[in-house]
Amino acid sequence: MQNNVLILDFGSQYTQLIARRVRELNIFCEIKPYNRLPEDLSEYKAVILSGSPYSVRAEDAPHPDLEDIKGKIPLLAICYGAQYLAHFYGGNVAPSNTREYGRARLSSIKGDEPFFYEIRESSQVWMSHSDTIKQLPEKAVLLASTTDVKNAAYKLEGETTYGIQFHPEVYHTKQGKQLLENFLVHIAGLKQTWTPDAFADTTIAEIKKTIGKEKVILGLSGGVDSTVAAVLLHKAIGDHLHCIFVNNGLLRKNEFQEVLDQYQHMGLNVKGVDASARFLDGLAGEEDPEKKRKTIGRIFIEVFDDEAHQVEDAKWLAQGTIYPDVIESVSATGGPSATIKSHHNVGGLPDFMKLKVIEPLKMLFKDEVRRVGASLGIEEERLGRHPFPGPGLAIRILGDITEEKVKILQEVDAIFIDGLKEWGLYDQVWQAGAMLLPVNSVGVMGDERTYEKCVALRAVESTDGMTADWVNLPYEFLQKTSNEIINKVPGVNRVVYDISSKPPATIEWE
Ligand code: XMP
Repeated sequence: MQNNVLILDFGSQYTQLIARRVRELNIFCEIKPYNRLPEDLSEYKAVILSGSPYSVRAEDAPHPDLEDIKGKIPLLAICYGAQYLAHFYGGNVAPSNTREYGRARLSSIKGDEPFFYEIRESSQVWMSHSDTIKQLPEKAVLLASTTDVKNAAYKLEGETTYGIQFHPEVYHTKQGKQLLENFLVHIAGLKQTWTPDAFADTTIAEIKKTIGKEKVILGLSGGVDSTVAAVLLHKAIGDHLHCIFVNNGLLRKNEFQEVLDQYQHMGLNVKGVDASARFLDGLAGEEDPEKKRKTIGRIFIEVFDDEAHQVEDAKWLAQGTIYPDVIESVSATGGPSATIKSHHNVGGLPDFMKLKVIEPLKMLFKDEVRRVGASLGIEEERLGRHPFPGPGLAIRILGDITEEKVKILQEVDAIFIDGLKEWGLYDQVWQAGAMLLPVNSVGVMGDERTYEKCVALRAVESTDGMTADWVNLPYEFLQKTSNEIINKVPGVNRVVYDISSKPPATIEWE
């Protein structure tokens, strides 16, 4: 049996959070949809059932067969999971009189139970359910209640099976991490050995074994994921890793050269390819945001394919894919929505896409990628870099793109980003950038009337880019930045600050 935890997803919005909390305990875990139960369960030392938007009483609700798990592997059932066990093993689940959302406090905790080790009476927990367990299964022992929910935690006699109505994975459950540790470490006996160092060591060893002496190609973007993937591979196979870093002419000011220098300094076998002209030619006159994206994607593939052909005998393509890109999620309307992988007509694919694929980070969350990067000795500055979109400044120049507009925006962006760093604000912001608007407005400089461009500055807080809020940057900072931009960047006479949240706005303007 391995040191692995299986999280069965019933479609809860919190499933990824469960995985994050387990990983924070330095324990490895995997998420699988409830109806894709792995055939070989011997790999798992514990199983966690997630919550769900469904009612267990609904016909189309997830009803997987747990016979190979329950009573055989330590099992923690959260919210819907706990109701599911109660419903199918002799208890009774019914709509609660009131919808039970938000904070609650545990009471009548069964103190001698290892599940509640170190958990305090009246510890705050978070509830989010509309059904409730009216009656526990016959074999169940009640472990804790709250004011509104009598059956808040239970255990099945003679088994290491636990059900809890609240969510230990959310921060509002103050001792949630301790509860997960109690279950995973003290009850299931898992070892807390999943550390960045351990991950790096085992992954490097695995890469060596898988790749041997074959050649690998990897496209570097300057971002965290591709950089960490490259360093891991380089430690495993050295110069058999061939990195390609393409300048699409839409990067930040000086970024191509600076990042290329950094990569070389790190010892990577990297080729910088300046294809700016090819991209700008291809984009000439294009105003539609989606067409701009498509053009950039197409040219990137052409350039990458040309470069990949220069590496004789390459067998592998490495990618910086991370875990959130590969988790199969259960859609709110039922069956698991398989990860969309476009298996086009293979004959029509560029040659590099016919290579075998290796994705060393595909089991890591973003913060874990950063921690592995730090343990590999990658500079903090590279790891803490804001996300930057693949199409680069093309989607921050509204309307058509010219070399001159790119230059203007690069200057504006550099003043803004350097300023954030100087003022110690950069790390408080999740993503920041400037937009060049297709608007000219009247200004006055000296005695002269101007009719020039307007730029919008945007800085947001977010955790994953799905939702975001604008950052309340100090007025003094905005004032100084605006002055500096208008004084130093010819062609710009007006600066505005974007105070829209996402939704309903988006982070980028295109
Ligand atoms: P939006 O504008 O949709 O952006 O709120 C959310 C996050 O995605 C990034 N983004 C992109 N990244 N290719 C990328 O690689 C794209 O076409 C693209 N569009 C948006 C954006 O920078 C933000 O982090």
